[in-house]
Amino acid sequence: MIVSEFIPKPYKSLLDSGSVVYSSPSNIALIKYWGKKAHQIPANPSISFTLNNCKTQTTLSFEKKTTAGFSFNVFLEGDLQPDFKPKIEQFFKRIEVYIPFLSAYHFTIETSNTFPHSSGIASSASGMSALALCLVQLESYLSPGISKAFFNKKASFLARLGSGSACRSIEGPMIVWGAHANITGSSDLIGVKFPYEVHSNYNNFQDTILLVDKGEKQVSSTVGHDLMHGHPFAEQRFEQAHSNMDALIGVLKTGDLKAFISIVEREALTLHAMMMSSDPYFILMKPNTLEIINKIWAFRKKTGLHICFTLDAGANVHVLFPENEAKEIQEFIKKALVMHCQNEQFIQDSLGDGAQPIKI
Ligand code: PMV
Repeated sequence: MIVSEFIPKPYKSLLDSGSVVYSSPSNIALIKYWGKKAHQIPANPSISFTLNNCKTQTTLSFEKKTTAGFSFNVFLEGDLQPDFKPKIEQFFKRIEVYIPFLSAYHFTIETSNTFPHSSGIASSASGMSALALCLVQLESYLSPGISKAFFNKKASFLARLGSGSACRSIEGPMIVWGAHANITGSSDLIGVKFPYEVHSNYNNFQDTILLVDKGEKQVSSTVGHDLMHGHPFAEQRFEQAHSNMDALIGVLKTGDLKAFISIVEREALTLHAMMMSSDPYFILMKPNTLEIINKIWAFRKKTGLHICFTLDAGANVHVLFPENEAKEIQEFIKKALVMHCQNEQFIQDSLGDGAQPIKI
């Protein structure tokens, strides 16, 4: 599948060398993407909060070369990472038609994260979006006059081809990816800003990420997505995501936090239920994930505060709550939940506005 609007006109000339820098955040889905078709097309629509503190900063240095093929090195926090190369090589292959200068340069890709490496935070979302943004930034030097709207669209389109959820990291604070009948402008190809009214209850919504298990996941999300092919509950799940999205549109407008909690927690548990009922089946939650969930439920029942959780494809827990309840909820988190984290590690985050270029 070739999408012609993202194929640039021939560049007039290439720069010899230089570098570009972008910082891009992670995001956390409220309605989950799990299952995909060919060409990184999602099996159902998803929506996420863009985060503010969990970010990857990438410097892309480029130098003209005369040899054929791709040539690049990747560094994380200053260390060469040969393990990252296959994923980036595959990304480059997928996007070469849209970024024709890829084989004209040798690239040095230097990345650093604001969150601990291998913490299970979606570093593929922030990492792939930061790299996609660097490439579009370089392209904007070669083809001046690209509008900001097209810049973001192309960056999201490319980021999706690196890691699906990465297409939701370009902008904020809430991004929809995947066509949905009742969301104007929604698309399988790019993430778009949630286009409707959002109640002030969600302003600066908080996300405390509890790092329950920082080990390598036993099952990658690529394998997990794949297991939705032939999954006995796949069709019902995809339909459910569409109807949960319909319900969420209303809940975002009215500010009904009880209904918000019920959609968001159901989505998280359904994601993990899909993993537990695939063939082969697997479990990514850990005992401490369940300890935390049970404590959140008990605290919510006792206090009536609007605290809830969501999960990614891993054991870590994202604790979500409105800003005006932050004081009591943060105290509870520190007193009762942090003890279930590996080395008591957690990250205090909140809604963010998306990626930013870094001046050098
Ligand atoms: O972007 P991927 O391929 O790593 O998939 C991420 C899927 C979930 O994080 C589990 C859900 C989502 O929508 O972000």
